[in-house]
Amino acid sequence: MKNSKIFALLLASLLSSSINAQNTITNNGKPFTDTNKNGKLDIWEDTRLSVDKRIDAIIKQMTNEEKASLLIGIGMPGFTENFQTVGNSVKNKVPGAAGGTFALERFGIPSVIVADGPAGLRINATRENDSKTYYATAFPVGTSLASTWNTDLIKQVGKAMGNEVKEYGVDVLLAPALNIHRNPLCGRNFEYYSEDPLISGKIAAAYVNGIQENGVGTSIKHFAANNQETNRLTIDEQISERAMREIYLKNFEIAVKESQPWTVMSSYNKINGVYTSASKDLLTTILRDEWGYKGLVMTDWFGGFEGFEAIMKKQSSDVVAQMNAGNDLLMPGLSIQKKELVDALNSGKLSQEVANKNVKRILELAFKSPVFTDYKYSNQPNLTQNSQVARNAASEGMVLLKNEKNALPFSSKNELVSVFGVTSYDFITGGTGSGSVNNKHTVSLLEGLNNAGFKIDQELANLYVPFAEKEALAEKERRKSQGILALPQRLPEMEMMEGFINKQAENSAIAFLTLGRNSGEGGDRVVENDFNLGKDEIALIDKVSKAFHEKGKKVVVILNIGGVIETASWKDKVDAILLAWQPGQEGGNSVADVLAGKVNPSGKLTMTFPMKYEDTPSAKNWLGTPAENPKEVTYEEGIYVGYRYFNTFKVKSSYEFGFGKSYTDFSYSDLKLSSATFKNNLKVTVKITNTGKVSGKEIVELYLSAPQKLVDKPNAELKAFAKTKELKPGESQIITMELKPDDLASFVTAQSSWIAEAGTYKIAIGASSLDEKQNAEFQLNQDIIVKKVEPVFKAKKKFSDLKSKK
Ligand code: BGC
Repeated sequence: MKNSKIFALLLASLLSSSINAQNTITNNGKPFTDTNKNGKLDIWEDTRLSVDKRIDAIIKQMTNEEKASLLIGIGMPGFTENFQTVGNSVKNKVPGAAGGTFALERFGIPSVIVADGPAGLRINATRENDSKTYYATAFPVGTSLASTWNTDLIKQVGKAMGNEVKEYGVDVLLAPALNIHRNPLCGRNFEYYSEDPLISGKIAAAYVNGIQENGVGTSIKHFAANNQETNRLTIDEQISERAMREIYLKNFEIAVKESQPWTVMSSYNKINGVYTSASKDLLTTILRDEWGYKGLVMTDWFGGFEGFEAIMKKQSSDVVAQMNAGNDLLMPGLSIQKKELVDALNSGKLSQEVANKNVKRILELAFKSPVFTDYKYSNQPNLTQNSQVARNAASEGMVLLKNEKNALPFSSKNELVSVFGVTSYDFITGGTGSGSVNNKHTVSLLEGLNNAGFKIDQELANLYVPFAEKEALAEKERRKSQGILALPQRLPEMEMMEGFINKQAENSAIAFLTLGRNSGEGGDRVVENDFNLGKDEIALIDKVSKAFHEKGKKVVVILNIGGVIETASWKDKVDAILLAWQPGQEGGNSVADVLAGKVNPSGKLTMTFPMKYEDTPSAKNWLGTPAENPKEVTYEEGIYVGYRYFNTFKVKSSYEFGFGKSYTDFSYSDLKLSSATFKNNLKVTVKITNTGKVSGKEIVELYLSAPQKLVDKPNAELKAFAKTKELKPGESQIITMELKPDDLASFVTAQSSWIAEAGTYKIAIGASSLDEKQNAEFQLNQDIIVKKVEPVFKAKKKFSDLKSKK
């Protein structure tokens, strides 16, 4: 039987376990009683059988050479051709996709195509000899999505993204990215969600569920503790088992259990001396045995290689260790890895049993991917509708940090608005690197304000527009000359004479001033002129504030940033601050919606904005040693990451975790617990009322303080949250949240157990992590050993985690 025919038979099958064995299976109208060369159907061709049986039948017939080909990817177009990848390139099908799996044509198994995320689908927008375009929607970045605290909305975003994945012929989106914000300077924090594992895990699960509803897959990444870009391929992180389990893994656990992502991407770094892609503790003991994960694990691109030098020297990663650990697929796949795999299989260094398990997971992925049923993708996703989804999500992710004397909303359409800051004219869609999207157009703030009908100070705009164009072009050229991982630099601010600004203040009713920041994959941010404002930015804020305030006019700062910046030193100089994040392609429209009051801001911070960078708990040992070229970093702050540190050690922040204002006010009342004693669960209800004058949504946060006889614990930790619907003035909603034994437990390393300690627990319902509105207590009469686990991540060296009590 010819390969093409076999392929067609397989395509007809979908997930054939659901096919009734009594049915006559047809192949393009012909009864499926054709015979193969032996006179009968092979098991793997028989679509009446379960996928499982058919895959096992394929594996039985595969040669070592075929297994090795499947266990590595087919290369990364433009990057790995020189390294002789295994062939059948991804280039022709979806140019710009990050990679794919090997097509096993003998068995009719097609190549599964994977492409980046997470802010949308990353593929090339144009193709050689093709006049059509293939733009994708640039959605808001991770920090923006998380700030919505709205899992229903994030699911819609996922659904919209998944539509683009499927309609452009891609099978798996390499997203979401959910590493914990250990430190505000991590260059990829914009892709990630939070310093807190609960909000991070819940947002990731919603995103995955939305995407996978389309029948395409996701890859939750980077598993785990990919918290810095500096020396990311080789950095050896010393982290305690408790910090790993409570902080750096908890979000992945939530995402795995609540959304079953098709794939997981292991990270680059080592944990306690072992590459994550070669860590059996991580990929088998925890991910599969403890959490019950059934999908595939792939490496990050070149994961497990001893740095770029090793790649250049064509030295392989330790493929046997990676396979044994449960890292099924090595991406993007280099021929040296294939050779090592074939040798290891031939010599028995890699057992057939292990390789078959890995191969099986890759085949399972292929069987459920759209390509397997030859899905006729349209190359015409619903870009118009999706751009509206991006616009709504972006405005809901905005956080109103300050609003003195109701400076906002500003809805007047017949008074002049002066728009300052180069970023207002060259808005930042999202960060750089694999997480950037090739969208058609990004709406600048100027454009957004124009679209909304604001009357713009044209004299000022006429100066800024050419300035911004020139600076943006220079930056583009600079980055182009440095290649894909060239790090972005912010554009300088335009110098203006005081007299000129005074004149604008005279004529205008209000000043909008945007500060911009960008960062990206491959590098971390720095304190000077990045976390902290530059001299040019401070001068601009000073001059504009002075001039406008002297005339009794307001100044509103818009932050078009991906991660945390310093705010404490300048926030008193302005009247309002709107944290717009990097809001995707509709940015300017989304900001205008909020400034004008069309949308009432309802986002809250998923990370702490410190008074100064040095207050960050990991500042002392950020990036590791030796400083000039870090090899090893110790997470001495342990579980005290973000607000767990600030609030327990009483370090004042500029804006605390969970904070965000609204154009209306809410009251909290009637907190009730389903029981005063915890048994298997506890229901918590609270009434939220809109006591202000406009409609709005409120995020309700539940913090739990636990008894601490066995181990040191943070003062309080976020254990549940909810967002109200849009409440009209005077309207109320009862919010219900639930606590399970898991939520009460901390990890007690000495007993290798998650334990909920007996004693008194305090619940605080807050509008932020410091703004407690209601509280109540309950008792747990006896310790509960929620889960006993295998000890993992054996420490390479001795160190002890930070403790709050002696
Ligand atoms: C990034 C991943 C990305 C992969 C494929 C790596 O450099 O760390 O997030 O999915 O490249 O582009």
